[in-house]
Amino acid sequence: MNTVVLGLQWGDEGKGKAIDYLAGNFDVVVRFQGGHNAGHTVYYQGKRVVLHVLPSGIFYPDCLAVIAHGVVVQPLQLIEEIRNARSLGLSLQNLALSANAPLILPFHQQLDIVFEDSRYQRIGTTRRGIGPAYEDVIGRRALFVGDLLQESVFRKKFARLAEYYNRLFAAYGHPAVDSEPAITDYLQAGEFLRPHVCDTTALLQRACHEKKQLLFEGAQGSLLDIHLGTYPFVTSSSTTIAGVFSGTGLSHKSVDHVIGISKAYATRVGEGPFPSELQDDSGRRLRERGKEYGATTGRPRRVGWLDLVALKHAVQVNGVDALFLTKLDVLDDLDEIPVAVAYEVNGVRSEQFPCHADALDLVTPVYRVLPGWQKTLGAMERMNDLPQPLRAYLDFIEEFTGAKISHLSVGGERRQTIETGR
Ligand code: GDP
Ligand code: IMO
Ligand code: MG
Repeated sequence: MNTVVLGLQWGDEGKGKAIDYLAGNFDVVVRFQGGHNAGHTVYYQGKRVVLHVLPSGIFYPDCLAVIAHGVVVQPLQLIEEIRNARSLGLSLQNLALSANAPLILPFHQQLDIVFEDSRYQRIGTTRRGIGPAYEDVIGRRALFVGDLLQESVFRKKFARLAEYYNRLFAAYGHPAVDSEPAITDYLQAGEFLRPHVCDTTALLQRACHEKKQLLFEGAQGSLLDIHLGTYPFVTSSSTTIAGVFSGTGLSHKSVDHVIGISKAYATRVGEGPFPSELQDDSGRRLRERGKEYGATTGRPRRVGWLDLVALKHAVQVNGVDALFLTKLDVLDDLDEIPVAVAYEVNGVRSEQFPCHADALDLVTPVYRVLPGWQKTLGAMERMNDLPQPLRAYLDFIEEFTGAKISHLSVGGERRQTIETGR
């Protein structure tokens, strides 16, 4: 069953862990959007590994890992990641990189930083150049991985873009990017990556035709989607189901099953509205228990209660078939667990999630308080082991969102996963 795994919140839901748990049953794992703004944590042989662009299926040697054309690629970063993976004993022979993946160039990262520091548009980005790289795609100026393989083409295109950006930087009083060292580094990176570069759309279409099992790995989360998230405090790609199709070239008929991932509470990194955010001691306790510090930037994550209005929005937008609920163990010692079940604006109650930050800023969440389980979940393996209040909590989430919960995660390790059979 070809399966898509998507984050349903503001990212960091535990996608890396879930993909690593599931990938053993798949032939191919595909990243289809985002870039190295992602940080997906996986435990491999007891070691904590954070993947940024490499798909989280790389730990299974028979699994083909694909970086499709929807992903924006910083080749120097990708090489570093490949080298790190090789130092763990992974060969990565099975890595395919799309020739049509847009490049993140030095201008993009510089522009990201200029904007973030200018107070003109402070989003709290990862400062990796993701937004500006996607802007170039939409603006029809982008350079692609395939360009790295033809020196004269790359030089010509790079020089044209350098002229465009250096004018922009001059207007902001910033130094121009020094092209020559960047061109040399990027061309060398192209040679390193050459054996992996191919037409991933053709590769994936062939895999579908041969009835291979495909697993699609989302990055970021639905509430960071460029169209359906809390705009403008979003990332610059389609993090929802739509991104699978535009990002791979496969049709909707190649997807059989959609798994949505949510934490049992909520976190967010960067700016933007977060109605159920906690700024008191209970928030600080959740942050410490859940080790909520960014896997990419190390920033402390903002923390709050599970927001079922937002979760239901994400379930509906993505056509989620099953929920993979993570970090339940972080709530172990709570006697009461609030969940947001509606929003109030000027005394009017609504269960609709508004897809714009200005509207979301105005809402006050309405909570339902559920009893906690006050048991240690980390070592539990079967549904029969689960305490009654946890079952009631799961029932409530299923009924509210309309999606079944298929998996529970009670720790960061692969084995700390319970299949519910629901
Ligand atoms: P991703 O971006 O969605 O892959 O998530 P991150 O890796 O950025 O953040 C999730 C963090 O939670 C990582 O440190 C994981 O190791 C950890 N994690 C995942 N699932 C669980 C869980 O069920 N319990 C606990 N305690 N930690 C988890
Ligand atoms: P994973 O895949 C959490 C956030 C940034 C910022 C906004 C825009 O690990 O879940 P960007 O650099 O993308 O232009 O930043 O999006 N953001 C993430 N937050 N997890 C991520 O990835 C994120 N990737 C981007 O913090 O608010
Ligand atoms: Mg992450």
